[in-house]
Amino acid sequence: MLDLDAEVAATQLAELTTRAAHLAGDHPIRDILDIGAGTGTGTFALLRRFPEATVTAIDTSDEMLSHLRASAARHNLADRIHPLRADLDEGWPTTPRADLIWASSSMHHMADPDRVLRDIHTTLRPGGLLTVIEMERMPRFLPDDLGFGTPGMEARCHSLLDEARTAHLPHIGSDWPSRLTAAGFTILESRDLTVDIPSPLPETAIRYAHATLSRIRSALADQLSPEDAATLDALLTMEGPQALRTRTDLRVHSTRSVWITTRTR
Ligand SMILES: C[S@@+](CC[C@H](N)C(=O)[O-])C[C@H]1O[C@@H](n2cnc3c(N)ncnc32)[C@H](O)[C@@H]1O
Repeated sequence: MLDLDAEVAATQLAELTTRAAHLAGDHPIRDILDIGAGTGTGTFALLRRFPEATVTAIDTSDEMLSHLRASAARHNLADRIHPLRADLDEGWPTTPRADLIWASSSMHHMADPDRVLRDIHTTLRPGGLLTVIEMERMPRFLPDDLGFGTPGMEARCHSLLDEARTAHLPHIGSDWPSRLTAAGFTILESRDLTVDIPSPLPETAIRYAHATLSRIRSALADQLSPEDAATLDALLTMEGPQALRTRTDLRVHSTRSVWITTRTR
C-alpha cells in the first residue's frame, strides 16, 4: 500500500522535494535522515532530488527495511542508502549529523514525539531542514451512493477509523506547528499536499484503492455492520458489476499537511 501511495503521489512528492531544495538554498544537502522510512517513499524521492546525497533510512520494522533494501538494489541505489533498524521510542541511535531530516506519516507513531523532535534538533546541523508530513485521514475513493448497500459506507468507515486511531495513536492530528516551534525549529513553510485523481482511475490508482480499502476492511472487521462489511466485500472481489475494478466512478482524494522547518539555534 505504501509503494502504491508513493506512485500515486509521485508528482506532489517531487514538487515538495523541489521546494525543500529551493529552501535549502546554497547549503549542500549530502546527509539525509528518513525517520520511519517505511518502504522508502521519501528516501527514493529525496535521492532523485539530491543526486549527491546519501540517506540513512531509519525504521523499527525489519520487514519495512528489507523491502526498502530490495527496492534500493533493484534501482541500483544500494550504495546511497543506509538502512538502520532502530526503535526511536527507545532513544536516538548513532547517526551522522544531517543536512535534511524527513519524517513522513511517522511522527504520530512515536510514544513521545517531543523527545524525538528534540533529538532531531540535536542531529540536524544549524541551518538544516526538517520536513514533517502528517496525514490525518486515510484517502477517499468512493461515491456516497454506490448503487447498492446503504449510502455513506465509506464515511461510516472513516468515522470508525477516526475513533480507533484516536484511541491507539494519541498524537495523530496534534498541534505539530506548536510542537515543532517548542523543539527549536522555525517553520519556513506550511502547505498541503493534496492528491486528487478523477475517475476513471488509472490502473495504479485502482490497485491503491483496493489495497487501502482491504486494509480498512481488516482493521474494522469487528466493528462494521454486517451490511457495510458485505458492501466492502463486494467491492473488493476481483470481478462482478460491484467490484472496484469494474467501476467507473472511483476517484482518489487525499490530503497531507506539510511543515518545512529549519534549525535556527
Ligand atoms: C505510516 S508508515 C510511513 C512510512 C513512510 N515514511 C511513508 O511516508 O510512506 C510509518 C513508519 O514508521 C515506522 N515507525 C513507527 N514507530 C517507529 C519507531 N518508534 N521508531 C522507528 N520507526 C517507527 C513504522 O514501522 C512505519 O514504517
